[in-house]
Amino acid sequence: MSRFAKVEQGPPIEVFALNQQFQADTFPNKVSLGVGAYRTNEGQPWVLPVVRAAEKALAADEKLNKEYLPVLGLETFSTAATKMLLGADSPAIKENRGFGVQCLSGTGCLRVGAEFLARILNYHVFYYSKPTWENHKLVFNNAGFKEPKEYRYWSESTRGLDLNGLIEDLDKAPENSVVILHACAHNPTGCDPTQEQWAKIADVMEKRKLFPFFDSAYQGFASGDLEKDAWAVRYFVSRGFELVCAQSFAKNFGLYNERVGNLTFVVKNPEVVPKVKSQVTLLIRGMYSNPPSHGARIVNHVFADPALYEQWKGCIQTMSSRIIEMRKALRAALEKLKTPGDWSHITSQIGMFSYTGLNEKQSLHMIEKHHIYMLKSGRISMCGLTPNNVEYVAKAIYETVTNCDTRGVATLGHKL
Ligand code: LMR
Repeated sequence: MSRFAKVEQGPPIEVFALNQQFQADTFPNKVSLGVGAYRTNEGQPWVLPVVRAAEKALAADEKLNKEYLPVLGLETFSTAATKMLLGADSPAIKENRGFGVQCLSGTGCLRVGAEFLARILNYHVFYYSKPTWENHKLVFNNAGFKEPKEYRYWSESTRGLDLNGLIEDLDKAPENSVVILHACAHNPTGCDPTQEQWAKIADVMEKRKLFPFFDSAYQGFASGDLEKDAWAVRYFVSRGFELVCAQSFAKNFGLYNERVGNLTFVVKNPEVVPKVKSQVTLLIRGMYSNPPSHGARIVNHVFADPALYEQWKGCIQTMSSRIIEMRKALRAALEKLKTPGDWSHITSQIGMFSYTGLNEKQSLHMIEKHHIYMLKSGRISMCGLTPNNVEYVAKAIYETVTNCDTRGVATLGHKL
């Protein structure tokens, strides 16, 4: 009998299982609206031209070698990434109390940050929004946190933020709870707090002595504007919070499989920085020793070259504008068909995802009948929509909400 015989089958990771199912589907008009990865108007993955240019330059640079990076990664990359997040004139950077550490994309940053908070600061309660990206809970639990708790976020009746619920929940949180906040383009709802609402969230977190852990996966990708998408993080820093922020370069650089991220720390006192870095060094050394260089070198190369940096800003404009166009096209097509329900949320939501309001049964129906792959929560990736498939998707949604159990939509669309 094998020692491994008692191992139980774990559940699949929905978003990746869906992708495999999509690949295996031979239906000619199939559409992938599952995984959050950018596609062109032709439905193809896009390697940004600035990334190609950086890779060519790196390949031609004979001075570069394959020696280990330091445990905390490529420092010039982290410094530039931290500046991008906190702003070029950030007082935290000027006062040497804001710094970054290269980690393995956004998820790796979340894990290292969470391990630091759990093991070094002994925090054990964390709050995540209801709903949130499904991996937050797993990462924090695996990092050593003991008590996962939800805070209300999404109101089905208003199809917007449940600010009162959110404040009520955080107002009851024990001191030193860590609160995961999406810096912009909330995943999966596409619904962000307004600046006034962020101020109220900061008030309750200050009052209850809660610790902000920002997840910034979409800076620049959400609105096309790097400064606008970093507003919430910068606001918390300006209010005097100490915080950490997981920064991913998967979406805004299209570097999904290069796993390049930066974990930013903002502390009150610069004297603690060497100690914090020494503990993060031990955590990383015990996990994966040191990070790979390729992705960080690409981002670093673009950041260091003003012309490439401007070109990159053009690329994020291209990506965010295409998504905004697809939002408009989907809403218009649904309204033209007189699809039951109110579809204005498709254009008011922001970022990569839209929370359609389709319930689980309807989402599965979209897959089975129409070969349109989406999460069972009703989340769709707007990137999978193109001028060629948007009508097909709208017709499928029409058929689904007309013929398939409409309860989920009825709670969303009061006009039903
Ligand atoms: C998503 O939410 O689809 C992406 O961030 C991919 C992932 O890792 O879940």
